[in-house]
Amino acid sequence: MLWITIDKESAVPMIRQLYARIREGILSGRLQPGARLPSSRDLASRLLISRNVVLEAYDLLYAEGFLAPKQGAGTYVAGGAAFAGPVRMAAPPVEEVTMGYDCPPGVINFRAGTPNLKMFPAKLWLQMVREVLLLPPEEMLAYGHPEGRMELRQAICDYVVAQREVICHPEQIVITAGTTQAIGIACHLLLGERRDVVLEDPITRDIQLIVKSHGAMLHPVPVDNDGMRTADLPLSLKPAFVYVTPSHQFPIGGTMPIQRRIELLHYAEKTGAFIIEDDYDSEFRFDGPPLSSLHGLHPDRVVYIGTFSKTLCPAIRIGYLILPPQLISLGRSRKWQSDLHNEVTSQLALARFIRLGYYLRHVARMRKHYQQRRNEMAVALTENFGHPVEILGSATGLHLVARFPGCEFTPAFFAGVEAAGARFYPVATHAFDPRQHRDELLLGYGNLSTEEIRTGLALLAKHLHHYR
Ligand SMILES: Cc1ncc(COP(=O)(O)O)c(C=O)c1O
Repeated sequence: MLWITIDKESAVPMIRQLYARIREGILSGRLQPGARLPSSRDLASRLLISRNVVLEAYDLLYAEGFLAPKQGAGTYVAGGAAFAGPVRMAAPPVEEVTMGYDCPPGVINFRAGTPNLKMFPAKLWLQMVREVLLLPPEEMLAYGHPEGRMELRQAICDYVVAQREVICHPEQIVITAGTTQAIGIACHLLLGERRDVVLEDPITRDIQLIVKSHGAMLHPVPVDNDGMRTADLPLSLKPAFVYVTPSHQFPIGGTMPIQRRIELLHYAEKTGAFIIEDDYDSEFRFDGPPLSSLHGLHPDRVVYIGTFSKTLCPAIRIGYLILPPQLISLGRSRKWQSDLHNEVTSQLALARFIRLGYYLRHVARMRKHYQQRRNEMAVALTENFGHPVEILGSATGLHLVARFPGCEFTPAFFAGVEAAGARFYPVATHAFDPRQHRDELLLGYGNLSTEEIRTGLALLAKHLHHYR
């Protein structure tokens, strides 16, 4: 046992160290079955540690079967406890599963869809959490229900009815871990015999991947400045659902006019398809009040998905599904099967935050902020590139798309600008037919300062110069 050393300065308790050394010795076969271990008194005096430490380490080894059952005097290694395996785990090679939005520090990241994280109302949020944590433990800390807390569902219901012309009852709402989980649940509910799904082209690549992972056949319909081109909907198909972002098409930015909404609803009725309305950032409309939802026009055919990722922050992971009555039970079951329910503290904190009027106030403040950023970006685009550059879509949200006629953005181009200090993203990543969007950039401004927008676009101009 001379190979055993104990580090008295280590954060690992001495009992744990001694136990681990002997366990390792037995597993590796260095300590053979039947070998006698030193007495606790002897080992303690050799290692200059207390005898109790040795006794407790031996007890643990007995409990796990590494030492033979006690019979009279002596402590012996048990048989059948050798097993050669890796003792330490090196960091395994892991393939990146996210979209690769992480940027090296110091690089200006024009990623779309991240809100201004520095303006998160942290003090107020902390106050909400503190108040919620004082509730009786049974209310706060026990298992809950899959649909989420009624306090939050009621607050969301009041909000969407008043602000989005949604027609719903709180019982139709299921609180989810963001839009991302809501889409997965909706796919589970709607993809039965029907496997065809109609989506906008382009649409967030993550969404395409989620829908595809549920075994759907994807049928893209192109978008223009007014969202999905409903005249191109495939009439020969009976899709399970049509996925749309009518308030602010992602990424192109169009807002769907009422004529197209009605055409889409007629299509859904004719084919028996549902519509999934992803209303991810409609709160931030700058040239007028937020538009009404599609849901309010036909609540039985539309599954509405909302999220707090853009109005508060993505890390909070709270979104919601509004389901037609016949899908409510199935939706709750699916949520239950996937993760029981959303975490309760933030559900209750958010319910309180909305009910006390802080949410509307925060959204109004952020709307002004993003409007300013968008204007700054538009000005910087004109200053750097002049009028040939076209800004697509409506004045909404946390990003815009700029078209640079005659340019073709290549991976080498993006690598070059990034080396100079700014990361840009092509629209083509989200397109079924990337050739249609080769000259377009997706420019997020939600989490950038005025200075970063100016510096980043100046860098872009400098690099584009070489490519034109
Ligand atoms: C079209 C669209 N919907 C919704 C979201 C938000 O997803 P989540 O609510 O899971 O954060 C995003 C994220 O960028 C998006 O692009």
